[in-house]
Amino acid sequence: MPSDRERTTAARRAGASVAGLMAEIADVGRDGARGGYSRPVYSTAEHELREWFVDQAARRGLDVETDRNGILWAWWDAPGSGRHDAVVTGSHLDSVPGGGAFDGPLGVASALIAVDRLRERGLTPGKPLALAVFPEEEGSRFGVACLGSRLLTGLIDPDRARTLRDPEGNTFADVAAKAGLDPRFLGPDPEAVGRIGSFVELHVEQGRGLIDLGQSVAVGSTILGHGRWRITVAGQGNHAGTTHMEDRRDPLVAAAAIVQAVREAALRHSGARATVGRIVPVPGGTNVIASSVSLWLDVRHVDDAVTAAVVERIHADARRVAAVEGCSVELREESLSPTAHFDPALRHRVGELLPEAPTLPTGAGHDAGVLAAVRPTAMLFVRNPSGISHSPEEHVEDDDAEAGAAALADVLAGLIGGA
Ligand code: GLV
Ligand code: MN
Ligand code: MN
Repeated sequence: MPSDRERTTAARRAGASVAGLMAEIADVGRDGARGGYSRPVYSTAEHELREWFVDQAARRGLDVETDRNGILWAWWDAPGSGRHDAVVTGSHLDSVPGGGAFDGPLGVASALIAVDRLRERGLTPGKPLALAVFPEEEGSRFGVACLGSRLLTGLIDPDRARTLRDPEGNTFADVAAKAGLDPRFLGPDPEAVGRIGSFVELHVEQGRGLIDLGQSVAVGSTILGHGRWRITVAGQGNHAGTTHMEDRRDPLVAAAAIVQAVREAALRHSGARATVGRIVPVPGGTNVIASSVSLWLDVRHVDDAVTAAVVERIHADARRVAAVEGCSVELREESLSPTAHFDPALRHRVGELLPEAPTLPTGAGHDAGVLAAVRPTAMLFVRNPSGISHSPEEHVEDDDAEAGAAALADVLAGLIGGA
């Protein structure tokens, strides 16, 4: 088994590199206001990245198709074999607002470079290999995380998906239609799922696990259960100058108390995480007391019953603190993903192929977590020396990126077999 350094040197000699591919897209979707990148699904920036992927795949002689849910598949067919029992790798190209460069695109660039490494080895696949790009993994435009893989696997009702709205009020159906999809055909795709023999997603690590272990690549074990809820606080919209302080029913004042209650509810349970990362006052004017406020709540815990208990507590506390301000509260689940345990047999096989790699759980969500419910799935993580993610400070060193792609190539070679 070659060391990370030997792999990196070999990759450099061969020309194309993960860093080189990442440099090609470094200017796409930069966010001058927030810093980092804002690449919402089906925005100009994400379209540009999808076109870049299609071009890169075509240059490698891969056959690219877009399925009914907007997932891109780039196929390296195995001689004499149809598109079934395929080994699939890939990730996403959309980002959170003001996100880092690597969350998603690292997995896509690494998949492309892994194909190069396999070709350099002169490998003829014994099974088809497909590279996949999933739309709306972050759920930053339409609210539901992993929307593409949820539609594919039937984990979201397509009627609900079609009516999801972005912050400008556009429905997912309209945006999907503008992106060239037929919204009537959004939804479960058993044929596409049936082609997947196994799925391996490479991703930048979003915490400090690999920093602490002093290693560049790890094999994933679990994805922390997580969900999103929307809390709507209703009050009385009014004038900031004419409404006496004691006469107000200000939902933003209630929202401030709710944010505090969220933190306290999470602190009651070891390992629980609860976040309000987005607050939208309606109508949102400096001299306007809001009439309502939406708070987007993200709660995570390894035990799904604890997640439910935290959310229940938050709901009760939110109603109580809002009542003090004369406001009412509604809480609605937007998406829920139970803790995902990657397939033990596939994990074992990946561990054999990467004997030096440690095993790590993750607190971040991934399409791999959705696919894990229906297909043998595994993940690889690549060290992030900042330990920070969903922020412009997310980072990957070039050598680690090459080591990640080389590790992915080793895993894919082992899984597709062939000569
Ligand atoms: C996605 O990265 C998430 O964990 O929400
Ligand atoms: Mn992310
Ligand atoms: Mn991601």
